[in-house]
Amino acid sequence: MDASSQNAAAGRRDTLTIVDNRTGKQYELPIEHETIRATDLRQMKVNPDDFGVMTYDPAFMATASCRSTITFIDGDKGILRYRGYPIEQLAEKCSFLEVAYLVIKGELPTKTQLEEWTRNVTTHTFVHENIKKLMDGFHHDAHPMGMFVSTIAALSTFYPTAKRISDPAERTLSIYRLIGKAPTLAAFAYRHSIGFPYVHPDNELSFAGNFLSMMFKLAEPKYKPNPVLERTLDVLFILHADHEQNCSTNAMRGVGSSQVDPYSAAAAASAALYGPLHGGANEAVLRMLDEIGTMERIPNFIKDVKEGKGKLMGFGHRVYKNYDPRASIIKKLADQVFEVTGRNPKLEIALELERIALQDEYFIKRKLYPNVDFYSGLIYQAMRFPVDMFPVLFAIGRMAGWLAQWQEMLTDAEQKIARPRQVYLGTGKRDVTLLSQRG
Ligand code: CMC
Repeated sequence: MDASSQNAAAGRRDTLTIVDNRTGKQYELPIEHETIRATDLRQMKVNPDDFGVMTYDPAFMATASCRSTITFIDGDKGILRYRGYPIEQLAEKCSFLEVAYLVIKGELPTKTQLEEWTRNVTTHTFVHENIKKLMDGFHHDAHPMGMFVSTIAALSTFYPTAKRISDPAERTLSIYRLIGKAPTLAAFAYRHSIGFPYVHPDNELSFAGNFLSMMFKLAEPKYKPNPVLERTLDVLFILHADHEQNCSTNAMRGVGSSQVDPYSAAAAASAALYGPLHGGANEAVLRMLDEIGTMERIPNFIKDVKEGKGKLMGFGHRVYKNYDPRASIIKKLADQVFEVTGRNPKLEIALELERIALQDEYFIKRKLYPNVDFYSGLIYQAMRFPVDMFPVLFAIGRMAGWLAQWQEMLTDAEQKIARPRQVYLGTGKRDVTLLSQRG
């Protein structure tokens, strides 16, 4: 029985009563899904022309910005589900393209639906030749995520009709293009950074297999991906496909709410993902492991973290106050990958860091557990992806979630252009003096 039904059975109302002590007035606000509407507070005024009471919530710590049916997370229990399906089952039984379909359309595809979806995404893996020229313009050591963000944005200039966002057919076409082209742009960014020629998509390969081919193909006529690494990468894309209202998804929805085309909104989301507290975290984990270097230096490192001199990257999460379920799946995948690639020497340091942190009062008290990024970097590195590529890999998987959330936002009658309020604390009105008369 949910909270609402329990209340009804006990004869209680699903409401919140607030007394405004400034006026002595009492208000009864409805509670729906354990949430009150912030705009209901605006009726609370001292003077009729007041704006009314607002909520102050930097970083959205207790504010729901939307109603969604895409992803469910119970951070205390370590549960993650896409459209109701547990992440563990999706990672075991599905391919990334099946999961992308699920996340965007709401149901797992039938065999025929999956074939059609795969054909449509695959048709759109190629990019215009001018995109290659655009990429050539980047400095030889440009960060691939910077290149990815820019070229995703540039796609809007190649597909100007994508701005017709209220046309479902245009939206669908943009969805195929963004899911299909993300791996191509990602691989091209990498090839540019090492001065290698771009490898065209091989549409006979799987989504992950084709990406590996575009990344690593050399002179061989046809690239044959290692099946273990191909499946691992596919699972990693599944694990990253969506994560409800995180920083980049919020950017996708916020920027998309201006009704801009999806390429521009996805570029904004990718830019948000670039940050070290979000998609850049697994890159930061590897740099941290490199810095620690040896097992003997771990205790000192932990001591520094506890003294506030840095963070244990790959630990902690805004939502999970338990082991991130994605981290458990990745830890298991690591063993299979290392059997193929050989063990990543940093694994020992990571395992020891985890062991110490999970027993340490500082981390226990703050409920800091390994998140998705703690082990993913080790796998990516073992698979020969350079650290600069980690956030780009994240973006390939997350593109599905961004697009699902974008489409949900556009078709939600309650959504409008995102425009937060502020509490103004600056000075009152003052008059400008001429420069010659100042100080
Ligand atoms: N190492 C050490 N202390 C930490 C860490 C950490 N990784 N994370 C949080 N804390 C401490 C923090 O200093 C604070 O302590 P105090 O209460 O004494 O001030 C307390 O824990 C609460 O942290 P917070 O910064 O208020 O938590 P948040 O919800 O704002 O931040 C986070 C979440 C993920 C940004 C943060 O845990 C962090 O920076 N972790 C390291 C970066 C990282 O691994 N990011 C990847 C996130 S998972 C990928 C994704 O889904 O995007």
